[in-house]
Amino acid sequence: KKGNSTNILWHDCPIQKLDRQQLLQQKGCVIWLTGLSGSGKSTVACALSRSLHLRGKLTYILDGDNIRHGLNRDLSFRAEDRSENIRRIGEVAKLLADAGVICIASLISPYQKDRDACRALLPKGDFIEVFLDVSLAVCEARDPKGLYKLARAGMIKGFTGIDDPYEPPCSCEILLKQQKGSDCMSPSNAAEVVISYLEKNGYLR
Ligand code: PPS
Repeated sequence: KKGNSTNILWHDCPIQKLDRQQLLQQKGCVIWLTGLSGSGKSTVACALSRSLHLRGKLTYILDGDNIRHGLNRDLSFRAEDRSENIRRIGEVAKLLADAGVICIASLISPYQKDRDACRALLPKGDFIEVFLDVSLAVCEARDPKGLYKLARAGMIKGFTGIDDPYEPPCSCEILLKQQKGSDCMSPSNAAEVVISYLEKNGYLR
């Protein structure tokens, strides 16, 4: 959608992303964690942030739940508000990556077209989509906030996976798969998988 601002001109600054990256000794990027409520996005985001921090890397987490307390407090869980939530977080993530930060976005982001739109904001390769492929059965059994129970009882309408859709990524950079009965992939194992991807692809120097 086109914006409403007119008569606006872009200003460049001589200090650019490359200069900031040089200073930080890392490459700014967006690690986009998507998956159902209860799939472990926030936990993996924290584990990842911690591991990278201990290696001297600057990270910042944009967590859907947290951003909805401030910047996105005006948004509901209707489809168009979810899209706007994802769009705004995508734009903030883009700014952080441009600042040289390893930005970890952690939100359900249930719609493919919205995730694709965020990917399109970033230079090629800098949007790393990570799918926490945890089945609805497992997420519902965990139910860390008791929200699935409320959704099943009809007390929350439009809950993702229950009466609102989740579109799994068609293709993602990293698949973190966990099914009922299988061995748990611990948050630190999940973080290691992401970190080795970053290493292989030149995001950590
Ligand atoms: S979205 O779909 O990307 O805009 O959602 P997000 O910003 O990540 O917010 C998801 C968290 O909000 C809580 N919550 C709901 N989730 C899904 N559907 C409905 N209707 C809903 N209402 C509240 C829930 O705690 C989600 O947190 P996570 O961390 O994903 O469990």
